[in-house]
Amino acid sequence: MNNVTFFFAGTVSQEIGARIAHLSGRSLGKWHLTKFSDGELRPILQEDVKGATVVFIQSTYSPAAHMLELLLMVDAAKNAGAHRIVVIAPYLGYMRQDKIHAPGEAHGASLIGKLLSAAGTDELIVCDPHVKDLQLLFNFPAKQVSSYPVFRKYVENLRLDDMCFVAPDTRALEAAKLYANYFRAKLVSCLKIRNAPNQVKAIKVVGNVENLHAILIDDIIDTGHTLVAAAEQLKKEGARSVRALCTHPVLSGSASERLMSSALEEIVVTNTIPLKQVSEKVKVLDVAPLILKAINE
Ligand code: R5P
Repeated sequence: MNNVTFFFAGTVSQEIGARIAHLSGRSLGKWHLTKFSDGELRPILQEDVKGATVVFIQSTYSPAAHMLELLLMVDAAKNAGAHRIVVIAPYLGYMRQDKIHAPGEAHGASLIGKLLSAAGTDELIVCDPHVKDLQLLFNFPAKQVSSYPVFRKYVENLRLDDMCFVAPDTRALEAAKLYANYFRAKLVSCLKIRNAPNQVKAIKVVGNVENLHAILIDDIIDTGHTLVAAAEQLKKEGARSVRALCTHPVLSGSASERLMSSALEEIVVTNTIPLKQVSEKVKVLDVAPLILKAINE
């Protein structure tokens, strides 16, 4: 990384941005945000970034204004003559639209890549992206940071015997397998049937979980319907305890309340998205060191 490097954190990633900057021995660059009366954003960088490497940290969960703020900041740095622009999106939104499922649908994930590229992004770093291989979608280098090492350590410290790792849907199978192999534990999969986005019509556990500590592995908790339905079914089928490891706590609507009253004993997430509601059941792990490592690689 260039000697002159500025780290800027967007409005929703101030905490993780400050952690990353601090771990790299820097403080966050100054910028301020003004808004027009209708809410239109106008970020202004208050550092001289000419010739510098500029790192922007912003998670782009809903509303889309978070993404727009990031794009405007990248454009501002480009206009000011930055040498290189690195975007860190601890959580990169719109990646669930990585396929055209129905005629007339947009390919949201690749559109996000085009927007970042058009604004002037030279490199992107994302933690556990929903799209398995971002690089195939984007025309600039895209690094993927895996939160696996921090979650694995967390599980090690639990010192549980008789665990099983559960993929709540087929997409999560590969990730759950990583844990099952490492801990020499059973791998359990689920068949999830959705009737609409975020709605779970039915979930079927494939495998015996009786008397096992079940650990669900997923990347996103949005409404929480997936985890709550899976946890309920696992308990019904005799699991001794059920917990979940899930990178991005999107937690929209009443997700927090739903999780609190669920069969889940604990929900372990990371700080890619700030928690809207603190609760005893939810533990937050820090992925800033892993992200910093990726910047320096
Ligand atoms: C789906 O493919 C994802 O990995 C998550 O399972 C999903 O986004 C969770 O959504 P929700 O919490 O709304 O069920």
